[in-house]
Amino acid sequence: MRDKYSGLQIGIHWLVFLLVIIAYCAMEFRGYFPRSARPVINMVHVSCGISILVLMVARLLIRLKRPAPPIVPKPKPMMTGMAHLGHLAIYLLFIALPVIGLVMMYNRGNPWFAFGLTMPHAAESNFEIVDMMKEYHILLANIGYWLIGLHALAALAHHYVWKDNTLLRMMPRKRG
Ligand code: HEM
Ligand code: HEM
Repeated sequence: MRDKYSGLQIGIHWLVFLLVIIAYCAMEFRGYFPRSARPVINMVHVSCGISILVLMVARLLIRLKRPAPPIVPKPKPMMTGMAHLGHLAIYLLFIALPVIGLVMMYNRGNPWFAFGLTMPHAAESNFEIVDMMKEYHILLANIGYWLIGLHALAALAHHYVWKDNTLLRMMPRKRG
């Protein structure tokens, strides 16, 4: 039985990690940039967000086909259950969050760009939907901070406190 996630799964995990950091930073620090840079900052945010959506769906499909490699020593069943619940929450949140962002941008009814390309938008603005999506987007983005924080803490606790191979299973392979 494999003792690690596949190279593809590990690559996607850490690429998504990087994209999530950039997506959050673009919004949290947008106030520090001159107004003229805002369109670029927004495009960075939405391009990272859309990439995260695609990668999260892809990794979920891969994960449904490939069982996770075993953790050694084996944690208690309750811990495994909580980890599965936590991972499910991360999948759902980082799929719902960008979808809500897309619905928000579409309904603004103005031209907008991702990856340097013009994206589709509604013929007329629908502010009711935009305002509702904006509220959900902000709420989920805030919950995302807590989920990632807990997830990272759990991974570090596995490594340093319980001293099992959880984190090593998600680390890039050594060459040679
Ligand atoms: C996982 C991916 C994403 C994360 C982590 C994320 C996170 C955030 C955060 C933290 C904010 C700032 C909220 C605030 O003002 O307190 C924000 C705002 C925003 N996001 Fe995202 N987002 C993601 C994906 C997307 C996508 C795919 C789109 C659109 C295609 C999008 C469109 C927007 C817009 C338009 C705003 C500004 C809302 C406003 O202030 O009017 N986001 N996002
Ligand atoms: C944006 C940040 C992150 C996201 C969205 C994320 C997402 C995920 C998801 C969805 C899984 C479940 C994989 C599966 O289906 O089996 C996972 C596993 C894992 N992640 Fe993260 N992760 C993030 C950050 C981190 C960080 C910072 C660490 C380390 C400090 C980490 C360590 C791990 C480990 C060790 C696993 C394997 C857990 C297991 O199989 O029980 N992740 N991650």
